[in-house]
Amino acid sequence: MQYKDNYIVLKDGTKCLLRSPAEQDASVMLQYLKITSEETHYMVRYPEEIQITEAKEVELLKDCLESEQNIMIAAFVDDELAGNAGLNRIKDNIKVRHRAVFGISIKEKYWNMGIGSNLIREVIKMAEIMGYEQIELGVFDDNIRARKLYSKFGFNEWGRVKNAYKLKDGTYCDEIIMGIIIK
Ligand SMILES: CC(C)(COP(=O)(O)OP(=O)(O)OC[C@H]1O[C@@H](n2cnc3c(N)ncnc32)[C@H](O)[C@@H]1OP(=O)(O)O)[C@@H](O)C(=O)NCCC(=O)NCCS
Repeated sequence: MQYKDNYIVLKDGTKCLLRSPAEQDASVMLQYLKITSEETHYMVRYPEEIQITEAKEVELLKDCLESEQNIMIAAFVDDELAGNAGLNRIKDNIKVRHRAVFGISIKEKYWNMGIGSNLIREVIKMAEIMGYEQIELGVFDDNIRARKLYSKFGFNEWGRVKNAYKLKDGTYCDEIIMGIIIK
């Protein structure tokens, strides 16, 4: 689904454009994913595991724009991709099609400017329009910043997966499942 271009002003007065990434953003999106996967251990993949080709990314972005169930909203500051959030239907099966799963990342140099909050607010709005009844997400137990942000927007803890993540140094981390009912 396409998100209509939306200019916002961040906490420090910086202008930011929220828009759906399109096919021409494929290369930047891949670079971005590698950078954000390097900056913290809170992303699901290590940067070297991002092996998707630019052609495949073009296809994914196009499919997302044309889809009724999925949406991506990216944040651009001075034409630089600063953040991205996505909402996807868990599965098309009748029993679970009311559930959407949410993911977000902001480039570290843009943290604490309000981009995350704006993206979450807009994604919740879009989820309502798309007819979802609930949004779910998984977050590393030690990702206090993200957990606090999700709570601020009404997400509650719905569960915990013990040792869900195992880092390269052998450290385990639990995954907290959070969710919000929006119907
Ligand atoms: C979590 C993340 C999305 C937040 O995005 P952001 O743009 O920095 O978010 P905002 O600026 O809107 O809000 C940040 C909030 O965290 C608070 N915060 C900052 N540092 C904090 C800390 N160490 N502990 C707790 N809260 C903190 C800020 O005060 C702010 O809260 P407020 O709006 O009530 O003042 C971003 O840090 C990020 O992408 N992190 C790396 C990837 C990641 O963790 N993704 C989520 C995977 S589930």
